[in-house]
Amino acid sequence: MSESNPAPERPHAPRPKGEPRFPHGPAPDPAGSHFERRIRSFQPRRSRVTAGQADALQRLWPKWGLDIDGQRTLDLAELFGGERPVVLEIGFGMGEATAQMAADDPDTGILAVDVHTPGQGNLLGLAERNGLENIRVANGDAVILLREMLTPASLDGLRVYFPDPWPKARHHKRRIIQPDFLDLAAPRLKPGAVLHCATDWEPYAEQMLDVLTAHPEFENTQADGGYAPRPSFRPLTRFEGQGLDKGHVVHDLLFRRTPSQNSQEA
Ligand SMILES: C[S@@+](CC[C@H](N)C(=O)[O-])C[C@H]1O[C@@H](n2cnc3c(N)ncnc32)[C@H](O)[C@@H]1O
Repeated sequence: MSESNPAPERPHAPRPKGEPRFPHGPAPDPAGSHFERRIRSFQPRRSRVTAGQADALQRLWPKWGLDIDGQRTLDLAELFGGERPVVLEIGFGMGEATAQMAADDPDTGILAVDVHTPGQGNLLGLAERNGLENIRVANGDAVILLREMLTPASLDGLRVYFPDPWPKARHHKRRIIQPDFLDLAAPRLKPGAVLHCATDWEPYAEQMLDVLTAHPEFENTQADGGYAPRPSFRPLTRFEGQGLDKGHVVHDLLFRRTPSQNSQEA
């Protein structure tokens, strides 16, 4: 197979041992063992990739995808082909809501990160079919992206919609919205930028409200210090729909990054 004329992806064809699943697509473990083992907010899973998703990964990854290898700092203006506000979305799942928000706000770049390969293919396909030029898909752990690859005050917003709720007590440490995560995220946000979380899991919503309220670099946009009404710009997500079907109540939280104490960031 030559580089210029790759064979069409056959996702179910047997693949020789050691050969990458998508030679032109996302790497299986982009940061590898370069970083310490630690508690992760996601469960590695190997899900079925449809032929359409595989095709999108093979064709569009070189143009719109990036692996979170933790080895370089991203120039967001270069990544998005010009200066524009950039919002990071962590855990886009299958990406339908992400594509909708990108279509509704074409002047904002969305850096969408997830580890879920079928979702990455799905979102790339949606971006192409809808002519969306303002989405970049990052593969890997958002924590490494924030910690190693984003510069201070580079983000105009952060969205974490329906993060894995990890309902069992012994798994609570895996929940992404924790004080350590907020310590990492706050300096990457511009002062005034909004962190928007949503969840249908009541105990997690309470935890989010507690840790965000206690954090010195975030302030609640709600004068009463509580949950926010669902903003009209947030579409219904796939996971949210499943929660609503089970009778869950959804909470949105909108917290603003406080003005920086550090004059270099202001
Ligand atoms: C419960 S799903 C919600 C997906 C989508 N936001 C929705 O509402 O339908 C959470 C997603 O977050 C992703 N995720 C969790 N932790 C992550 C991390 N540290 N970095 C990247 N993706 C992560 C998971 O792979 C999963 O796809």
